Amino acid sequence: MTTTRILVTGGAGFIGSHYVRTLLGPQGPAGVQVTVLDKLTYAGNPANLDPVRAHPGFALVQADVCDAAVVDRLVAEHDQIVHFAAESHVDRSILGAAEFVRTNVSGTQVLLDAALRHHADGRGVFVHISTDEVYGSIPHGSWPETHPVSPNSPYAASKAAADLIALAYHRTHGLDVRVTRCSNNYGHHHFPEKLIPLFITRLMQGRTVPLYGDGLNVRDWLHIDDHVQGIELVRTKGRPGEVYNIGGGTELTNKELTSLLLEACGAGWESVEYVTDRKGHDRRYSVDCAKITQELGYRPRKDFATGLAETVSWYRENRHWWEPLQQRAELGAAAG
Ligand code: NAD
Ligand code: DAU
Repeated sequence: MTTTRILVTGGAGFIGSHYVRTLLGPQGPAGVQVTVLDKLTYAGNPANLDPVRAHPGFALVQADVCDAAVVDRLVAEHDQIVHFAAESHVDRSILGAAEFVRTNVSGTQVLLDAALRHHADGRGVFVHISTDEVYGSIPHGSWPETHPVSPNSPYAASKAAADLIALAYHRTHGLDVRVTRCSNNYGHHHFPEKLIPLFITRLMQGRTVPLYGDGLNVRDWLHIDDHVQGIELVRTKGRPGEVYNIGGGTELTNKELTSLLLEACGAGWESVEYVTDRKGHDRRYSVDCAKITQELGYRPRKDFATGLAETVSWYRENRHWWEPLQQRAELGAAAG
């Protein structure tokens, strides 16, 4: 049996670690070895990889995706790259964009240059994990992959830059680059700064939750199992140079979502504080998933009510995972 050696950047974060646990878990594909390249920033947690640590095909390298020497060595030793590593939180990008440009844009270019040296001429696959935020905001309807990018936040702009550079390496150099643009992920191991885990953890502590603006911004929620399903379809069956949207099919206003979270955590609307809106807050995201559905057979399987109930239960049972992260995040915010 041939072995496929996959380099997963950002594999200690929320989605990347779920991807690695799935690949090396009992339902994962045969003949796969995984090396995680992760800087272990505040969002990277080696404990997320505990379930696969003893797997003979697993390795973790703590390194920066901008470190060209380390990246070159690792890319040379692998057949494929799945690139998750990024600064991922919109609010942090509004406070300071430098790290977003460095990691998301320069880091992607460093990785692409290494792929060019070692994976040219049709060898290798480079799956670039982008986001639906690159399209901007849409009042009605949904974006097909052909829609021009028009990002609004510094985070989204840095992801759009990386996404376009990745596609340019395909068009210019023929590198086998495949881009995914997914909607808002949810599930276990989600860092407690994003809406769903922030609200669940605070409500479990009897605290209030901050709802931005009028609470009518709309997001499409995608369970991490379905996102991993989509990424695997793109890695194994996708076409070079193509972009694939991946959505969950559950659009909710933040108010509707808050209502579900309050109910799941046994709290009422008195626990909600309407706070000043996020600057440049995108009103609505909505991806058209016809391409990945028709071409690769993608279909989200996780019903949102079930996925959300499972997520709430996981946070209830895993306080030891999130309490230290929450304390560190709050100390960091207080220090400015
Ligand atoms: P995350 O913040 O949970 O994890 C990011 C990971 O990247 C962490 O492990 C961190 O340590 C690592 N990292 C950061 N800077 C690095 C660097 N310079 N070098 C090496 N590693 C570095 O993010 P996530 O939510 O898991 O998102 C993963 C990817 O998916 C990102 O590219 C993000 O833009 C994209 N995405 C996320 C969502 C979502 O809803 N979370 C939706 C669409 C797209
Ligand atoms: O759409 C994909 C994107 O989804 C990813 O590319 C990003 O990496 C990911 O962080 C996420 O971005 P959002 O900004 O949509 O997610 P966040 O959880 O930060 O916010 C979701 C919505 O909830 C958004 O409309 C802002 C609002 N919100 C968020 C927070 C943190 C609040 O009302 N209060 C909050 O405290």
